[in-house]
Amino acid sequence: MTTLSFLGHACFQLSNETTSIVFDPFLTDNPFQVVKPEAVKCNYVLVSHGHADHLGDAISIAKQNDATVIATAEIAGECGRQGCKNHAMHLGGKHAFDFGYVRITLAFHGAGIPGGHACGFIVKFFGTTVYFAGDTALFGDMALLGKLESIDWALLPIGDNYTMGPDDAVEAVSLLKPKQVIPMHYNTWPVIAQNPEIFKQNVENRLHIPVTIMQPGETITLG
Ligand code: NI
Ligand code: MN
Repeated sequence: MTTLSFLGHACFQLSNETTSIVFDPFLTDNPFQVVKPEAVKCNYVLVSHGHADHLGDAISIAKQNDATVIATAEIAGECGRQGCKNHAMHLGGKHAFDFGYVRITLAFHGAGIPGGHACGFIVKFFGTTVYFAGDTALFGDMALLGKLESIDWALLPIGDNYTMGPDDAVEAVSLLKPKQVIPMHYNTWPVIAQNPEIFKQNVENRLHIPVTIMQPGETITLG
């Protein structure tokens, strides 16, 4: 059984009986922290970029679990210098892992680390394809991602201000054509306050694609 837990902001944990992947573990300074970083058990940590609300607790979580950080080369290199196992990739690259594969996607956003580039991830996890967009603006080549991959679940930022907002995220869904959508990166601070119910209604009414709004700490089964 494959499950997805939302740990707040842009942090998700994708797991089955044997393997667990954590995305962008920002826990310590999260005003709605639902789990202490010391309690997170995982095999892989995926980091989309170097901003503090994404790199967050990645290094300590990777070290305590002897987990592998998968990220662009600049982030992976920094994690390696701090003692983490790591696998460096870069934009457009795809690599097989024991759970399936990771494709590093474009993300239009700051790198948060010198010389780097923000990214997103398409993760094939034992037959389920998850697109974690990271922090990004809307961009037209999301249509290419929807053509290259049959996305089961798209995890998209809707907070606005730092990333695409809810209206642009509806456009993103229309380009990506995923089977299901989960909004993220909103309501952590007042500047990214959004009502996810409005996003859900717009996507479901206009595109007929179901949106699941997850509360921090909630776990769902990916069918
Ligand atoms: Ni960012
Ligand atoms: Mn962010």
